[in-house]
Amino acid sequence: MLDLQEIRKDFPMLNKKTMQNKPLIYLDNSATTLKPQCVIDAVVDYYENYSANAHRGDYDLSYQVDQKYSAARKAVADFIGARKEEIIYTSGATAGLNMVAIGFGMCYLQPGDVILTSEAEHASNLLPWQRCAMQTGASLEYIPLLPNGRLDMQAYQKMLKSGRVRIVALAQVTNVLGYLLPMEEICALAHAYGAYVVVDGAQSVPHIPVDVKAMDCDFLAFSAHKMCGPTGIGILYGKKELLEQMQPIYLGGDSNARYDRNGNMILKDIPYRFESGTQPIEAIFGLHAAIQYLTAKNLARLHEYECELHQYAVEEMQKMDHIILYNADNDTGIITFNVKNVFAQDAASFFNAQGIAVRSGQHCSKLLEQQLGCMATIRASLYFYTTKEEIDTFLDACRRASMETCLDIFF
Ligand code: ALA
Repeated sequence: MLDLQEIRKDFPMLNKKTMQNKPLIYLDNSATTLKPQCVIDAVVDYYENYSANAHRGDYDLSYQVDQKYSAARKAVADFIGARKEEIIYTSGATAGLNMVAIGFGMCYLQPGDVILTSEAEHASNLLPWQRCAMQTGASLEYIPLLPNGRLDMQAYQKMLKSGRVRIVALAQVTNVLGYLLPMEEICALAHAYGAYVVVDGAQSVPHIPVDVKAMDCDFLAFSAHKMCGPTGIGILYGKKELLEQMQPIYLGGDSNARYDRNGNMILKDIPYRFESGTQPIEAIFGLHAAIQYLTAKNLARLHEYECELHQYAVEEMQKMDHIILYNADNDTGIITFNVKNVFAQDAASFFNAQGIAVRSGQHCSKLLEQQLGCMATIRASLYFYTTKEEIDTFLDACRRASMETCLDIFF
């Protein structure tokens, strides 16, 4: 059993009252998560006790920063089963995915090659590939989704058989439907047909134990802020031999070993060649603290709890005739729904009036419209600090949500 009471004491935001003076019920964890005190302290610790740059000073303080900077990288590597040199600091999952599309895809793809993705993808794992296809002459093809929104694995296999697929870009857990893709199988199949797999781990790494070696993906990107860490820092993992081939998007300080006035430049080894400029060092301290926190709490156990809570919520929601659920059978804490005859944003405002934070709209996944049969949905996303009592309050609001009650709050 998780000691929810103890866990919740770690999160200062959970003591906050909303503008309506209600206890905050935060159900927007797929957008970003709350931060435990240890992460906040780690960020402050950098500013109060270190503040020096990394890799740049010949004095004790800078050396201490180097040590902590490097220890954080090791912690990230251990967290996902990678080697330390395969871990690149980025500003977030979006940056990591763009780095692969530009620095790897644009150099590697040829006219006639195929990139595979799906309509369930977040813009960050779709738009960089659309541009990459346009600029290289490759084509972007969409693996069909089954009626329930899961990836059609048979169609995927068939598409690979063309022999032209070079890159498969998919989220391990999609951010609207929340389905967990069989990534080991996806990678094994892609490799059998000579394709690389780029995984958007933004919604998976914070929730389920991920081992990149077991999965055998080629690249994986994720963000710290969705896993109790600070904003502005993320990770790109890449297999060593592929990172050796990838071009850095940015050039500048700390990424090169030497250069001359004629444009000759020798880049540093990976990962440093991808980290030009001063990184958000305080956020790297915070990310390290977040990883220690999640590891100490046992991520697998946290996920189990999240799934139990999710199961309870969807079972209750399925009893409500006026609630349309789009992903009742998914594998995570993402609940995507609508209130019949109510515009999603109006319903979200109704939830807000009860102190419940949910997201509404297209959630940065704008190709799902046809699959879902609607333009916008409401998304409630849980995390391990969500309580059953909070879900009960949310369910009560769902029961009361209707065209009348949702519009009432505006008058
Ligand atoms: N990618 C984040 C979400 O799905 C912002 O809400």
